[in-house]
Amino acid sequence: MIRLLHLSDPHFGAADEATAQAFLARAKELAPDLTVLSGDLTMRARRQELRDAKAFYEQLPQPRFVIPGNHDIPALNQPLDRFFRPFRRYRETFGKDLEPSLCTGSIEVIGLNSNRAFSRDLDWSKGYLSQDQLDGAARRFGPVSPGLRVLTLHHPLLAPPDHRRDVVKPLPPLLTMLSGSRVDLVLCGHFHQSRIGTVAGTSEWSSIVSQAPTVCSTRLQGEPPGFHMIHLDGDQLRVVLHRYEGDRFMEDSSEIFRRDETGWHVLL
Ligand SMILES: [Fe+2]
Ligand SMILES: [Fe+2]
Repeated sequence: MIRLLHLSDPHFGAADEATAQAFLARAKELAPDLTVLSGDLTMRARRQELRDAKAFYEQLPQPRFVIPGNHDIPALNQPLDRFFRPFRRYRETFGKDLEPSLCTGSIEVIGLNSNRAFSRDLDWSKGYLSQDQLDGAARRFGPVSPGLRVLTLHHPLLAPPDHRRDVVKPLPPLLTMLSGSRVDLVLCGHFHQSRIGTVAGTSEWSSIVSQAPTVCSTRLQGEPPGFHMIHLDGDQLRVVLHRYEGDRFMEDSSEIFRRDETGWHVLL
């Protein structure tokens, strides 16, 4: 049995301290094999926000893995930092590598940086990946999976229920890479809404997507804070949504998937 804790979007600078502490206590009890934090650690990459985010990160169960989100880039009131060194402060706090890799036990995880300091689109919070990034990810995964192959990026793959916000672009080549590399699981965040499902670039392989809600921020999108706990047992994987209710995190709903020669499918 492998147990992976996926949290996202704590947003220090707009985080609720009681929720953050309740989460850390629950995470310690759960004692996962790996903890993954999929970005938006801060609001604007301010120095105090990064200090608070680092203190929180260092209390997460080990081993742990982190990537930046679009909010971990300074805002337009710091144009030099925003345009010329957008990730300098993040790197000084969490390390130089914006696209880290980790292999622990039978879990292989790689990160991709879908955040852009600016784009042709007026909304610079949106996520993009280049073909070079996708080709690099396919190379980094290599030919043989050790058991569970995981890709982490900040921006989501599954549209929200109202379809008013964009998923990461371009989606089709990302899905093709996921199928080609037989990625088991994609971890992402950004919408502050829990979504769990499957995606498939080809009929040969479908992957599970865990889109985690915000773990402790006050920037709620119609649902309370929460996180996902992922349990892998052979070819069966269960994603459990935990919600903050009252003063603690409680198990809410779950989705179960089964793996066969064409990837992962919902177990009805
Ligand atoms: Fe966020
Ligand atoms: Fe975000």
